[in-house]
Amino acid sequence: MAKLDSEKSLIRRRWKTTTVVAVIVVVVLALVLGLALGLRHQQASGGGSTNSTQSNAAKFVTRNEQEWVLSGNNFTTSSMVTTRYYEFNVSQMLGAPDGYQRTMLVVNGQYPGPLIECNTGDRLVIKVNNQLDSGTAIHWHGMFQNGTNWMDGTVGVTQCPIPPGGSFTYNFTVPNQHGTYWWHSHMGSQYADGIVGSLIIQDPNEGLAEDYDKDVIVMLSDWYHDMSPVNTAIYLTAEADGSEPVPENGVINGLNVFDCSKSANSSVPCTGGSYASFQVQPNKRYRFRLINTGAFADFNFSIDNHTLTVIETDGIAMTPVNVTRLPIAVAQRYSVIVNTNAAVDNYWIRAVMNQHCFAYTNPALNPDVMAVLRYQGANSTSDPTTVDNNLVDPATCNDLNQTMLVPHVPLDAPEPNVSYYFEVSFQTLNAALPKLAYMNTTTWIPLNSTTTLQEAHSTTGNITTFGQDQYVVTPPSNASVIQIAIQSFDDGDHPFHLHGHVFWVMGTGDGYVQNPVPVFNSTNPLRRDTVTIPAYGWAVIRVQPNPAMQWQFYPERM
Ligand SMILES: *[C@@H]1O[C@H](CO)[C@@H](O)[C@H](O)[C@H]1NC(C)=O
Ligand SMILES: *[C@@H]1O[C@H](CO)[C@@H](O)[C@H](O)[C@H]1NC(C)=O
Ligand SMILES: *[C@@H]1O[C@H](CO)[C@@H](O)[C@H](O)[C@H]1NC(C)=O
Ligand SMILES: *[C@@H]1O[C@H](CO)[C@@H](O)[C@H](O)[C@H]1NC(C)=O
Ligand SMILES: *[C@@H]1O[C@H](CO)[C@@H](O)[C@H](O)[C@H]1NC(C)=O
Ligand SMILES: *[C@@H]1O[C@H](CO)[C@@H](O)[C@H](O)[C@H]1NC(C)=O
Ligand SMILES: *[C@@H]1O[C@H](CO)[C@@H](O)[C@H](O)[C@H]1NC(C)=O
Ligand SMILES: *[C@@H]1O[C@H](CO)[C@@H](O)[C@H](O)[C@H]1NC(C)=O
Ligand SMILES: *[C@@H]1O[C@H](CO)[C@@H](O)[C@H](O)[C@H]1NC(C)=O
Ligand SMILES: *[C@@H]1O[C@H](CO)[C@@H](O)[C@H](O)[C@H]1NC(C)=O
Ligand SMILES: *[C@@H]1O[C@H](CO)[C@@H](O)[C@H](O)[C@H]1NC(C)=O
Ligand SMILES: *[C@@H]1O[C@H](CO)[C@@H](O)[C@H](O)[C@H]1NC(C)=O
Repeated sequence: MAKLDSEKSLIRRRWKTTTVVAVIVVVVLALVLGLALGLRHQQASGGGSTNSTQSNAAKFVTRNEQEWVLSGNNFTTSSMVTTRYYEFNVSQMLGAPDGYQRTMLVVNGQYPGPLIECNTGDRLVIKVNNQLDSGTAIHWHGMFQNGTNWMDGTVGVTQCPIPPGGSFTYNFTVPNQHGTYWWHSHMGSQYADGIVGSLIIQDPNEGLAEDYDKDVIVMLSDWYHDMSPVNTAIYLTAEADGSEPVPENGVINGLNVFDCSKSANSSVPCTGGSYASFQVQPNKRYRFRLINTGAFADFNFSIDNHTLTVIETDGIAMTPVNVTRLPIAVAQRYSVIVNTNAAVDNYWIRAVMNQHCFAYTNPALNPDVMAVLRYQGANSTSDPTTVDNNLVDPATCNDLNQTMLVPHVPLDAPEPNVSYYFEVSFQTLNAALPKLAYMNTTTWIPLNSTTTLQEAHSTTGNITTFGQDQYVVTPPSNASVIQIAIQSFDDGDHPFHLHGHVFWVMGTGDGYVQNPVPVFNSTNPLRRDTVTIPAYGWAVIRVQPNPAMQWQFYPERM
């Protein structure tokens, strides 16, 4: 660490401003999902051994497939708001999502973790009991946390970790938003080991352009056979040269098959796994809510012989657009309507990992993540025999061409009165050291025994106390619309997520963004909360800051 610090100090500069109204915390997390942080924390706190949860390890992770079917459950969509209480017990257990047994970190013994389903405006009270022997915290991806910034669940930025044996009660409301979201651990790399779940905000006035009969969650995730600290440690070697760990497999709602002959360790129990199965009735309209809850991989999602009509992007209703294959990056969500009007049969649901984004080949990788769409009346046990008609390899890891995604409720992007430009890179000054992620000249290291938010509130006007490893940008008090241009110097694409806000995606592209940034068409651009910045490319977003908000803007994955 000391060596790293001295290397970094050579290229570090300080950003200084004076006025504090809203504070933008620009955080670049230095690993898969900001995991360097967690790894460092674990090292600092003594390694994260796991034997205090031996009794849990004897138990096996369960799943509740029924929970992913929202239609016909006992939830009532309503404009009457209420308070909904949940209790999350975070623990370590054995699991085998794809048949390959490994240690997992899970909530309530379940993978994926429990569903949160609420109505717009409801209050969510979620008591998190940490039964791990390392710290944890849960982030509610996409929640505005407008006025409850400290409930955002980001370790080091908005809260200290919930200590082993401790509890923390998240308590916030969800007005002015609806649609498909998710939650995950925001402590180190923990979520890649299983601490993830879906968060759905129903709304009788969601304003979608198309109706549907059935509502079903489809969570996609890459899946690693080693625990994330193992992969993180490899990633943080100089030899890795910034190449992100390539997964062994992927799962759909926590299930998939794996060819056990490719196991890295033949002494590990491996059953081969099974496919998730989606039972459908013919001639109905299904809303499938796709959520990429993974750590690294982009997926191309399709269903053989079925068109996908996109109607929602990250909680924003879209003018319906038909695609046969939908790219989805980590943390992004789409709702698609699938009309079950094909012949009564079984069809493959495909979430093909986009290997163009991988820096090396993992011989154990199963990139063809699949599940079964089972029509009522078709053979209920046989696998589908359908073929993928998406013949052209997409060859990039980019988002769906955004000209296809037009918000259904138009909202023009106002002209910005404040603009920023940031450069994202992965660098090391010494080939013997690992590459770390930088936002301009800062790579983030958490404050000790405090948080960025705490310091922002206690040091009004004096950001020097944030320290050299924090990058805090303070817009002027009159900032009403902020434009942010991000230039990436990395050879990989990266989804970026701005906490607490939906933004307008003014443009994305390859190469260098023009300086000054080009004039964009501000008529109803795409709005979302997670956008992919192409390799060696750029994105320009615009956002209206919420009052009294602290934001964090960071690569959703490395
Ligand atoms: C954890 O328990 C296992 C089995 O009892 C033992 O082999 C291992 O050494 C223990 N690890 C630690 C870190 O205590
Ligand atoms: C709905 O609630 C009833 C009564 O509590 C329960 O028996 C039933 O299983 C629930 N149905 C679903 C789909 O959860
Ligand atoms: C945030 O809260 C403020 C003050 O209550 C309100 O004016 C604003 O509309 C809210 N923003 C969102 C996105 O809900
Ligand atoms: C949640 O917050 C509300 C508003 O501050 C408060 O009235 C309520 O008591 C809190 N609930 C819990 C369980 O802390
Ligand atoms: C699926 O589509 C292909 C051609 O696109 C067709 O040959 C095949 O019969 C269809 N399968 C079913 C079960 O309808
Ligand atoms: C989109 O696909 C659906 C079939 O799922 C079809 O009914 C509809 O006409 C298509 N829309 C367009 C604009 O092609
Ligand atoms: C269903 O598929 C299984 C496995 O392919 C096969 O053994 C069985 O005969 C089929 N059942 C019917 C009714 O076709
Ligand atoms: C996106 O689609 C628009 C309109 O069809 C086209 O002009 C543009 O070149 C496409 N962009 C990319 C990156 O393919
Ligand atoms: C980031 O670095 C670039 C290049 O030095 C500089 O132009 C830009 O102003 C910096 N951004 C901020 C917010 O300081
Ligand atoms: C936090 O404390 C650890 C252990 O004392 C130390 O190694 C690290 O440099 C400190 N981090 C910061 C940002 O001061
Ligand atoms: C800012 O904080 C530093 C460190 O605590 C202190 O030395 C300095 O005087 C403060 N500056 C202002 C303007 O308050
Ligand atoms: C801006 O975008 C809107 C909506 O896509 C389109 O109708 C309009 O023609 C565009 N304007 C220009 C100048 O390209």
